[in-house]
Formats: sequence, C-alpha cells, structure tokens
Amino acid sequence: VDFRSDNVSGVLPEVMAALAEANRGTMTSYGDDPISARVEERLSEIFEKRVRVFPVSTGSAANALALSVLTPPWGVVYCHSNSHIEVDECGGPEFFTGGAKLHALEGAHGKIAAKDLEEELKAAPFGNVHNAQPAAISITQSSEWGTAYRPADVAAIGALARRHKLRFHMDGARFANALAYLGGKPADMTWRAGVDVLSFGATKGGAMGAEAVILFDEGLAQEFAFRRKRAGQLFSKMRFVAAQLEGYLKDDAWLKAARHANGEAAALGRGLAQVPGVELAAPVEGNQVFAVLPPTLREALEAEGFRFYTWDAGAPYVVRFVTSFATERAGVDRLIAAARRHQNAA
Ligand SMILES: Cc1ncc(COP(=O)(O)O)c(C=O)c1O
Repeated sequence: VDFRSDNVSGVLPEVMAALAEANRGTMTSYGDDPISARVEERLSEIFEKRVRVFPVSTGSAANALALSVLTPPWGVVYCHSNSHIEVDECGGPEFFTGGAKLHALEGAHGKIAAKDLEEELKAAPFGNVHNAQPAAISITQSSEWGTAYRPADVAAIGALARRHKLRFHMDGARFANALAYLGGKPADMTWRAGVDVLSFGATKGGAMGAEAVILFDEGLAQEFAFRRKRAGQLFSKMRFVAAQLEGYLKDDAWLKAARHANGEAAALGRGLAQVPGVELAAPVEGNQVFAVLPPTLREALEAEGFRFYTWDAGAPYVVRFVTSFATERAGVDRLIAAARRHQNAA
C-alpha cells in the first residue's frame, strides 16, 4: 500500500471524462477556448468574486509565477522554513521574480504565526537602500505539515500585509484538503482574509497535471499573462489543461475527493496514535499524517510492502503518510494492524 504522496495516485474519473469530452472537434488555442472561459466562470462562483484564472501545469510554476507579480527583484518574500517555495522548487521563485529574497520563518506544524511575522516586520529595514525590501508573504494551505490555517489566522496575516503594504500569496497545492477540513467558504479563507493570489492546486487532488493561478486582483492580470507566456506555460492546446480543471470542479468532485482523502488520513492518524511507541507529530487536518515512530518500525512496515517517506531522520524520527481520493480503508487498516503487531512484539 502506497502512502508516499498524493502524487502517486492516478486521475479522478471526472477528470478523465472531461479530457475525453474536450477531445472533440477544433477549439481556439492559447486559452481562448470555451472550456477555459467556463473554468474562470466556475471559479468566480466558487470564490464569490470575479477572479482571473491562469491554468499552468505544475505547482512550482504556479508559485513562481504568482510571486513574480507580487514582488520586485529587490523584494523580500516571507515564508515558512518548510515551505515548498523555500525547500522544493530549486530556486524557481528566486529565478522568476528576478532575484527576490525568500526569508524563512519558523512556526509550529508548518504554519507562520501572525505575531512572529509582526515581530519580524517591526525590525524590517523598510526604505534602507542597502537591504532587500519587504514585499510579500506566502503561506501554504494545507501546510507542509498537513495543518490548516483557520480563516482568522489568514486574516491576521492579511491585516499585517495590508498595514505594511505587502502582497499576500497562498500556495494552495492542497487547498481542497484545507477547505474540506475547515468547512466554510473559499472566499473567507482567501481574498476576504487579504490573499491577493492563490496557487489553486488540482494535480494532488486528482487532476493529471493542472493547477490554476487565481488572481483576486484583476490589475495583476496583464503582467501575469506576459510572464506566463515567457515561462512557457501558455499552452497552445490549453483546452486540455482547462478541461482537467473543469472535471475536477464538476459536481464538487474536488471536494468529495478531498473529503475522502482527509477521512482516510484521519482514520490512519487515529489508529497510529494508539499504537504503543508511536505518536503524531502534528494534528491531522488534511490528507497528511506525520508520525514519530521507532526506525525499527519503519523498517518492519517497509518489509511488509507499505510505502511512505521518512520526513525527518533525526530525533525524533518522523515519517509521513499521504492519502488521496484513491486511498482505500482496507489499506489503512492493514497498516495500523501491522504497526500494532510489530510494536506489541517489540
Ligand atoms: C505545498 C506544495 N506546493 C506546491 C507543490 C507543487 O509541486 P510541483 O511543482 O511538483 O507540482 C507541492 C508538491 O509537492 C507541494 O507539496
């Protein structure tokens, strides 16, 4: 059973069906197709605001391009030390922003606390020509530790951004999981809380390779369009990227998929927490489970064919399990039973 990532899963049937449906006749290229228009319409409904939507193919492209319209080359982007933009994008954000500086902050369970950011901004060298200038904040929802910022947490960061004239980006590679966990309205988690640009993930949730950069500030759209083209992300047959998003959003497939993934993660978390010698390293608030366990247990589980990644090989020793729309309860139960058996025998 494979818990390495949500990326190891296939594609939602709704996405496959939308791709097959899009594969008829001719359509205008480069995003001027009716499917792209419908996706923008649908996301405007979901977010209760006229938004501009720019499909791209990867989360890294979404993040780097999003940040490129939010900071000048001499800007500072505040983010978490575990954030994907800081750790896993090979300098893409720095490259696409023309050299903006990422400034990593610590924070429990993958989240930046508004009060820590406030301290940081108090001491920031605004206006000093020798220093890179505070320009933007980026948070990840759900976070890299599988936790969810509450709308009030986002709003507190958004208020700081406004007060200091900074822009606000959200990496929503797993936005659906946070929304499914929190309930409530997408608008309250984003633009009403001050977010300017959202990298709206779909691939991890069940698309084949599609993410949408959602601009809540229409004024950013023209610059974004040129930057996307320049980055090689303006697809000629855009209908197939848009179709994935349409299938993902259709009949709430995205939310049903996220609810399922979250439910499996919650079950896995509950079960593991009861195994002797195992504890959760972070609350389970999405589709990721982080567990502290003895390395001997990891080896035993791997020997039985369970697959997952070691998140931190130090002390404490932390492994990560990720669920998806395709995760089956039988596999979750087998993992818990195997962990219990090994620990009871240990
Ligand atoms: C938090 C987060 N952001 C963005 C991404 C997007 O990455 P990719 O460029 O691999 O699609 C990922 C994927 O691992 C992620 O976990």
